[in-house]
Amino acid sequence: MSAVATTKTVFNMNDLNLWYGEHHALKNLNFSIYDHEVTAIIGPSGCGKSTFIKTLNLMNKTVPGVKMSGEINYNNQNILNSKVDLVELRKNVGMVFQKGNPFPQSIYDNVAYGPRVHGTKKKQVLDEIVEKSLKDVALWDEVKDRLKAPALGLSGGQQQRLCIARALATKPEVVLMDEPTSALDPISTLKIEELVLELKKQYTIVMVTHNMQQAARVSDKTAFFLMGELVEINDTEQVFSNPTDQRTEDYITGRFG
Ligand SMILES: Nc1ncnc2c1ncn2[C@@H]1O[C@H](COP(=O)(O)OP(=O)(O)O)[C@@H](O)[C@H]1O
Ligand SMILES: [Mg+2]
Repeated sequence: MSAVATTKTVFNMNDLNLWYGEHHALKNLNFSIYDHEVTAIIGPSGCGKSTFIKTLNLMNKTVPGVKMSGEINYNNQNILNSKVDLVELRKNVGMVFQKGNPFPQSIYDNVAYGPRVHGTKKKQVLDEIVEKSLKDVALWDEVKDRLKAPALGLSGGQQQRLCIARALATKPEVVLMDEPTSALDPISTLKIEELVLELKKQYTIVMVTHNMQQAARVSDKTAFFLMGELVEINDTEQVFSNPTDQRTEDYITGRFG
C-alpha cells in the first residue's frame, strides 16, 4: 500500500459492551477495523472472540438475555442504535463459521442461496455469480463438472471453501471468519490461508484464530483479547515481536492460554 493512500475505517467500536444475562462478555472495546486488511482476533478460549465477531453483523442480537451498549459504527452508521436492516447488514458483512456448514443442497444451490434470497432470479446472472464466487475461492476447477452434486460430498477443506464462496456470493464488503481452519488438515489450512491473503485485495477480513502462527502469517493487525477485554491491538509484526502489554507477551510466548 502506498504511503499516501488513505485507509478507510470500516468498523469503529466505541465503548462496546455485551452481557449475556449477568455475564459481562465484552468490556468497553474501543478500536477500529480498516478496509482491505486482515484483522486477527486472538486470545484464550472463552475470552469473547466469537462473541465479538458475531456482534459485527449482529448475529447475537437475538440471543435471549443479550444486552449491548456503546457503538459499533459500520461505515459511520451505529448499527446498535439505528433501525438497521439486518438482511442488508448481513449481505455486506458475511460470515464463515468454524466448521464448514454447507446446506444439504447442491454445490450450485449453496452458492446461489444468498443472491436468490436477495432477489436474483435470472439463471444467467446466478451462473455468473456462482462461477465467480467459486473461482475466488479456488474451487471452480475442482467442482465445475459437478455443480449439481451434493455439497456434503465434498471434502472438509472443499466444504469450507464452498462456505466462503457462499459468503462472497452476495458481494459483501467484509468477511467474518471464526476459526475457519480449526477443523481442517494442514494442507486445507494452508489453502485457506493463501485464500485469505488473496481475498483481502477485494474484501476486509476479520478472522478469529486460536493459531498464533496463522495470525502471524496472514493478518495485518492482531487484536489480543483476555476475559472480554481488548488488551492490545497493533500491527501483527509488532504484536508478535514487541508487544506493549505484559499479558500479550505471556500469551504469545505460551505462558498461559
Ligand atoms: N449464548 C451464550 N449465553 C451465555 N453465555 C455465553 C453465550 N455464548 C458465549 N457465552 C460466554 O461468553 C464468554 C465468551 O464466549 P465466546 O465469545 O464464545 O469465547 P471464545 O470464542 O473466545 O472462546 C464465555 O464465558 C462463554 O461461556
Ligand atoms: Mg469461539
